[in-house]
Amino acid sequence: MAKLLYIQASPRKERSKSNQVAAAFLDSYKQTNPDDTVETLNVFEADLPSFDGLTVQAKYTIMHGAEHTAEERQAWDAVETIIEKFKSADKYVISLPMWNFGIPYRLKQYIDILVQPGYTFKVGDNGYEGLVKGKPVVVIYARGGAYLDAVEYDKQKPYMEQILDFIGFEDIRSIVVEPTLAGGEDLARQAVEGSIQKARQTATQF
Ligand SMILES: Cc1cc2nc3c(=O)[nH]c(=O)nc-3n(C[C@H](O)[C@H](O)[C@H](O)COP(=O)(O)O)c2cc1C
Repeated sequence: MAKLLYIQASPRKERSKSNQVAAAFLDSYKQTNPDDTVETLNVFEADLPSFDGLTVQAKYTIMHGAEHTAEERQAWDAVETIIEKFKSADKYVISLPMWNFGIPYRLKQYIDILVQPGYTFKVGDNGYEGLVKGKPVVVIYARGGAYLDAVEYDKQKPYMEQILDFIGFEDIRSIVVEPTLAGGEDLARQAVEGSIQKARQTATQF
């Protein structure tokens, strides 16, 4: 019995195109894998600690190979709890909107919490090595415009792929929903329908 963690990064609930496509994916996934568990973490609703002050200091303490002070330890506990929950999953689905060509700030905050030396990556003899290994991830991207032919503007998909690769993911699948705004309602509907079809197909082999 596997555990799938669904990380949701749009705050737009049912209106969100990335949420709609992810919902179709999960629906098919549950039908194919009725014994698996699915946990959802919405980064806008989750209690994510601010990555500032003591927490940043606690990270530097680790990077310098020193011991945490009691205060740093307390701040770091919250980071460890979130990383443990993330690492306890066997499979991942991430859905996100493009915001200002990149990713929403709450997802970046979650990533800043997750990506820690000794937890999700390490520096080995051959340089950086990801520690989240052997687990597949599907990333569902929604964007108002169309970027598959304007890749130089896209800081959303390349960033997600880079950071997931950095922490060890090798099986990274993607579903792009676009354009959700710039082409009008008909094109948006077509984009969502096409992506839902792809999501359902992907879910049966995930
Ligand atoms: C704060 C904000 C910034 C956005 N920036 C962009 C952008 O840079 N490029 C783009 O194509 N669409 C942009 N959009 C539009 C969203 O990417 C689009 O509506 C997408 O469908 C949102 O995903 P969702 O429907 O899952 O929430 C932006 C929307 C918001 C709210």
